[in-house]
Amino acid sequence: MHREPHLTNAALLARRQAAVARGVGHAHNIFAARAANAEVWDVEGRRYIDFAGGIAVLNTGHCHPDVIEAVKAQLDRYTHTCFQVLAYEPYVELAERLNSLAPGNFAKKTLFLTTGAEAVENAVKIARAATGRPGVIAFGGGYHGRTLLTLGLTGKVAPYKTGFGPFPGEVFHATFPNALHGVTVDDAMASVAAILRNDIEASRVAAIILEPVQGEGGFHAAPPELFQRLRALCDQHGMLLIADEVQTGAGRTGTFFASQQMGVAPDLITLAKSMAGGFPISAVIGRAEIMDAPAPGGLGGTYAGSPVGCAAALAVLDVFERENLLARARTLGERLRAGLTTLAQRHQSIVDVRGLGAMVAIELAKGGDVKQPDADLAKRIAAAAAERGLILLTCGTYGNVIRILVPLTASDALVDEGLGLLAEAMNHVRAS
Ligand SMILES: Cc1ncc(COP(=O)(O)O)c(C=O)c1O
Repeated sequence: MHREPHLTNAALLARRQAAVARGVGHAHNIFAARAANAEVWDVEGRRYIDFAGGIAVLNTGHCHPDVIEAVKAQLDRYTHTCFQVLAYEPYVELAERLNSLAPGNFAKKTLFLTTGAEAVENAVKIARAATGRPGVIAFGGGYHGRTLLTLGLTGKVAPYKTGFGPFPGEVFHATFPNALHGVTVDDAMASVAAILRNDIEASRVAAIILEPVQGEGGFHAAPPELFQRLRALCDQHGMLLIADEVQTGAGRTGTFFASQQMGVAPDLITLAKSMAGGFPISAVIGRAEIMDAPAPGGLGGTYAGSPVGCAAALAVLDVFERENLLARARTLGERLRAGLTTLAQRHQSIVDVRGLGAMVAIELAKGGDVKQPDADLAKRIAAAAAERGLILLTCGTYGNVIRILVPLTASDALVDEGLGLLAEAMNHVRAS
């Protein structure tokens, strides 16, 4: 392969700007050359601590040796047959293992796809086929992907939906609880009731979909009471409950599925991102009879559940067991929360430290006033952190949240080093 002898980030950025559609966002002007666990080196040889994890994909770290070994072994056997044409065992074994991990004391079945959005699309298709109903209720601030249906479900206009409508119909948005801003579970349930009163009758609603912790929306955890009351509502009206665990799943929150902490089981769960440690595969896991509603041929895809993705995902499940990563997610989360709380005591602009397990974030507001979200500060902190060797990601409806998705496999020393760089970046931004 042709390689420039002396690549620089600036030269690559110029090439990128000339060759790549500008709609593909970029958080940092940094080009990766190699990565291991929670560290990345750029094309100029600079080292970074990775608190972004490729947006929640690297719970087991960059290039975990066991995942890479499993993928290499799979590459030597076969890379593609299309599961609908010639089936293979890794797909079946992965389905068996996810069925046994998913919450709910009922028989389950699983379908594999390639991306998170594709999993969400298919969960809605399955819910419609199982109920014979069209409607879907999602939540404001929720994020479900970039395809047209998942954009329709997504509850944030800019930048995701701008210019791309119209979106599929029969999708309605309820209000997600937000303790910091005084939105209660009662408010959320009242907003669902309003949709059923004003927009669509319950008997035409196939499903309610929500993230156990809103990811792109700003790391707002659903109170378990919300899940429990939505479950009861769904049971009352024959609607299905879908947990979008694309970002929360694969151990991020301290249980393999965040919905395990909600006290009730969803009918369908979507999973992607960290389930295969950096390889593209996604899943819909759910009640067997619901999953079987679509007729043979109704589900699938050329690359859906690729053997390479399945091999990587099986290795990830083994790594979770061997390295006890669920317990690690909980202790890491406590460590991050403690470090960020200390930082909040020194910076009035940090108005909240929140999250579930190791899915942790800080919210920033001008002068400590929660009503004045400070997206510009979040951006400047992320840039100052990158200059110091720490990769951060922002999120939130107002762009004023900094989220941490460091690999669960990162050492305490590395996490503390990263928190130290964040503190330096915040001091620098305050002084500048
Ligand atoms: C909760 C949630 N659902 C769906 C998606 C879409 O996943 P993908 O980008 O793999 O299509 C994401 C991606 O960030 C997500 O966080």
